[in-house]
Amino acid sequence: MAGRHLRDMIVAYGQRDDLKFRRAAQAIISEEEAKRHTVLARELRTLLAANSTLGVNEQPAVPEPPIDRDSSLPLASVELTDRTLDELVLKPTTSEALLQLLTEVRRWTDLDAAGLPRRNRVLLSGPPGCGKTSAVSALAHELGRPLVTARVEGLMSSYLGETATNLSNLFAFAATGPYVLFLDEFDSLGKMRDDPSDHGELRRVVNAVLQQIDSYSGSSLIVAATNHSQILDSALWRRFDAVIELGLPTADELAEVVKQTLPPTAFKLAKPYLEELAGYPHAAAEYFANSARRRAVLAGVKNVRVADIAAALKETTSRPWL
Ligand SMILES: Nc1ncnc2c1ncn2[C@@H]1O[C@H](COP(=O)(O)OP(=O)(O)OP(=O)(O)O)[C@@H](O)[C@H]1O
Ligand SMILES: [Mg+2]
Repeated sequence: MAGRHLRDMIVAYGQRDDLKFRRAAQAIISEEEAKRHTVLARELRTLLAANSTLGVNEQPAVPEPPIDRDSSLPLASVELTDRTLDELVLKPTTSEALLQLLTEVRRWTDLDAAGLPRRNRVLLSGPPGCGKTSAVSALAHELGRPLVTARVEGLMSSYLGETATNLSNLFAFAATGPYVLFLDEFDSLGKMRDDPSDHGELRRVVNAVLQQIDSYSGSSLIVAATNHSQILDSALWRRFDAVIELGLPTADELAEVVKQTLPPTAFKLAKPYLEELAGYPHAAAEYFANSARRRAVLAGVKNVRVADIAAALKETTSRPWL
């Protein structure tokens, strides 16, 4: 059995990279077959197949998040996500940055071995509805890690004295396994710190979060999101090893979102109307396409009509998005 494949398997186990693990196992099986160790090869193949079935039917266990002692509410939600990165419409630079991040996280152990620091604190920044939450779900899915979502504001809103305990419990939890820890609405920290009505307590709590982030060295990837990059002062920015922008879509990107959501014939009909969505986020394009489809279904017609498209556009542009 070639040492290289065995090593790959152990590395894959450490990275919880199911695909890599299977590839290495497959390579070992092929080698055994080539050596005419047919009984062993058959046994290994059966074992691998049995585990594949398990993998499909039985999701990996999702751990229980810590709870707030006062309210007994969980401090985070923990879920397995199924969105893939290529389902998102991203600018080439954004997509490259996310792919690079995935490669790095999968190869953290190699970076460790080379004495290089891990980039494990990432900030996603961009206007509402341009894919921050979607991107973090996709990162978790691609890494095969549970997504642990904490809302910074939720953590804070509990009884103030308990907040520091909650925070350290949450970060301790994140250190128990390879997760993606998502801190949404990160800008609320900046706002809290500048709150003129506060007498120092909030500031202490904010500093506690920053310290937790600074000293973080667990195996989870921390991803924070903000849609107000301008209010994040440099003290907040510089905590992050990478800042990835998810900006407003171009006309082509908006069209791509609509194309992904509408059947081809409906997309052709919708095309001349799409310039009216200029300046809107991806979420609006998706909403528009779903609204047009919904109208057709409710009218009992098979295909989306121009009237559905016009009405969907009006509905979409008459509500606030940003
Ligand atoms: N880049 C994108 N490609 C495809 N769909 C997108 C993209 N961005 C957003 N969407 C769609 O828009 C909806 C909202 O996106 P999402 O929740 O990821 O935005 P967000 O940036 O987290 O917004 P917020 O700042 O309000 O939290 C989702 O249903 C998602 O499918
Ligand atoms: Mg979001």
